[in-house]
Amino acid sequence: MCGIVGYIGKNQALPILLDGLKRLEYRGYDSAGVAVKTADGVFSAKAIGKIVELEKKIGEIKSPFPCPLVPRSGRRAPLLKRANTGIAHTRWATHGAPTEANAHPQTDCQGKIWLAHNGIIENYQELKTRLAAKGHKFISETDTEVIAHLLEDLYDGNLTATLIKVLKILKGTYGLAVLHRDEPNKLLAAKRGSPLVIGLADGEFIIASDAAAIIRHTKQVIYLNDGEIAEISDRDFKIFDADNNQVDKNVDQIEWDQAAAEKGGWPHFMLKEIFEQPESIANSLRGRFMAEAGRVKLGGLEGVAERIRQTNKIIIVGCGTARLAGLVGEYMMEEYAGVPTEVDYAHEFRYRKAVLDEQTALIAISQSGETADTLAAVQEAKEKGCLTLGVVNVVGSSIARETDAGVYSHSGPEIAVASTKAFTSQIAILVLFTVMFGRQRQMSLATGQRIINELIALPDKIRQVLALNDEIKRVAEKYYKFKNFAFLGRKYNHPIAFEGAIKLKEISYVHAEGFASGEMKHGPIALIDENFPSLVIAPLDSVYEKNYSSLQEIKARGGKVIAITTAGNGKIKAAADEVIYIPKTLEMLTPILVTVPLQLFAYQMAILNGRDVDKPRNLAKSVTVE
Ligand code: M6R
Repeated sequence: MCGIVGYIGKNQALPILLDGLKRLEYRGYDSAGVAVKTADGVFSAKAIGKIVELEKKIGEIKSPFPCPLVPRSGRRAPLLKRANTGIAHTRWATHGAPTEANAHPQTDCQGKIWLAHNGIIENYQELKTRLAAKGHKFISETDTEVIAHLLEDLYDGNLTATLIKVLKILKGTYGLAVLHRDEPNKLLAAKRGSPLVIGLADGEFIIASDAAAIIRHTKQVIYLNDGEIAEISDRDFKIFDADNNQVDKNVDQIEWDQAAAEKGGWPHFMLKEIFEQPESIANSLRGRFMAEAGRVKLGGLEGVAERIRQTNKIIIVGCGTARLAGLVGEYMMEEYAGVPTEVDYAHEFRYRKAVLDEQTALIAISQSGETADTLAAVQEAKEKGCLTLGVVNVVGSSIARETDAGVYSHSGPEIAVASTKAFTSQIAILVLFTVMFGRQRQMSLATGQRIINELIALPDKIRQVLALNDEIKRVAEKYYKFKNFAFLGRKYNHPIAFEGAIKLKEISYVHAEGFASGEMKHGPIALIDENFPSLVIAPLDSVYEKNYSSLQEIKARGGKVIAITTAGNGKIKAAADEVIYIPKTLEMLTPILVTVPLQLFAYQMAILNGRDVDKPRNLAKSVTVE
């Protein structure tokens, strides 16, 4: 996710802003920028890549000011005098590739209003069209730039009052830091759905999207609530609610040290990312529903809508966890859209002679967008004339660029090697694909509406599953010494059995295998004894009775069973050794809810086995070689 830092106070803003950005580097980003208010105007610099590139850029810019902002190579230069207010940003691309034009801070036509933004503005396209018609000139592809132009359009001489008006017009989420060239001694911050903290130091205030950028200066903070706006000067601050009423806020004390702050207080990135899933799923889905029409709006596929209509076969490719999301997609596409679908390992697909033609769509799934095998599969399919579509998390990545069209999963940067939030978002995007393909074909309005309504309810249901972490930890404490595990599932949760197994083995180094439940009696059940426990995924769905039979077969052979089922299924308690309950949802969405306890189980098992959870041995986050 992107990072925001803002500063106002007695010191030079620029070094504090750059240091703050460095403290947010762990979050992942692909460009960075800064804007500081000076006696003569606003100085801004942006760069693609790391903060060090931004620093180089600042050093190279021929400063319009009496003295350079940062030391040039070889000699120390004084910092710019009175540049004590500024904002800075690390951007992780969502709307538009990582370019300087798209980097923040963004500004208005006159370069007076500058802002850094985290989040997604859903109605930016419609606002942009309206503002462009009034003569506003846009230079970026971002949703953020519309906020600057809207502020310019409505500006009445008071940035705070104007921002309050503008925020009422925006749909979507934001953490914002804003300044105006002509309003001295003022820095604004606003929040809705994207975190923003104000650090209160001695004679200075630091605002940031994350306490990691503040902790070096102060541990006294104020957390803004959704809808609140802060107006900050070098001495004082006021906080307003969305209706311009001033509100009193408590000052909190941060208890973390720097290392813990980078993980937002979580002990590991993996756990943090597991717990981010209510938000990451909401971000994947945001702005993509036409709920009443039972349809979805996937801007990235609009250009190929006709080819999608002509498609009579889908091949989904990916590697590791990404391929498993594809397997869930296969069940959905065939059941709800009636399109024959197959799934392949990208590395197998590229060498086999798959039967392809122009009516075949290849869907490539990748978190990083850089997996070499998946990229090669896309190139192979293009060569054969297929329509190639991407489900990719990293904006502007190779697979995103190589595919004909695609949908970003918007799950935010994933830092732990084990894929968690990226996986559940990939499934969520495949549900959207299914609704899109389905509504063009056999899916009824009522079914489209039902799926959308259940998707809307998903983040809350994920929260309910996350609340089971302590319970799952207790289960792991009973089982962490076992050397082998079987994961069983059927139909939609057959791929999730494989996902549970891959998660456990990659971070805890405990041997685990995924099986289709029905396959057990054809061989694998020979493995089962009291030392070989099984996780049986058995939600109350169309194949529940079949799964229940598999569970009993395992129990009959002395195997221990940890069952995952739907809330309300008391009966299973008599048969299983442990039961984990997930909330009720549509059968096609159970994979998302079932995945969460499996992630937590793998995490707790790895901790109990003393593993390096975020960086397991022998693995890389992105596999860019064949
Ligand atoms: O970046 P990608 O999604 O293309 O990566 C694919 C796999 O390498 C990845 O999912 C891998 O299996 C994960 N470590 C699993 O947690």
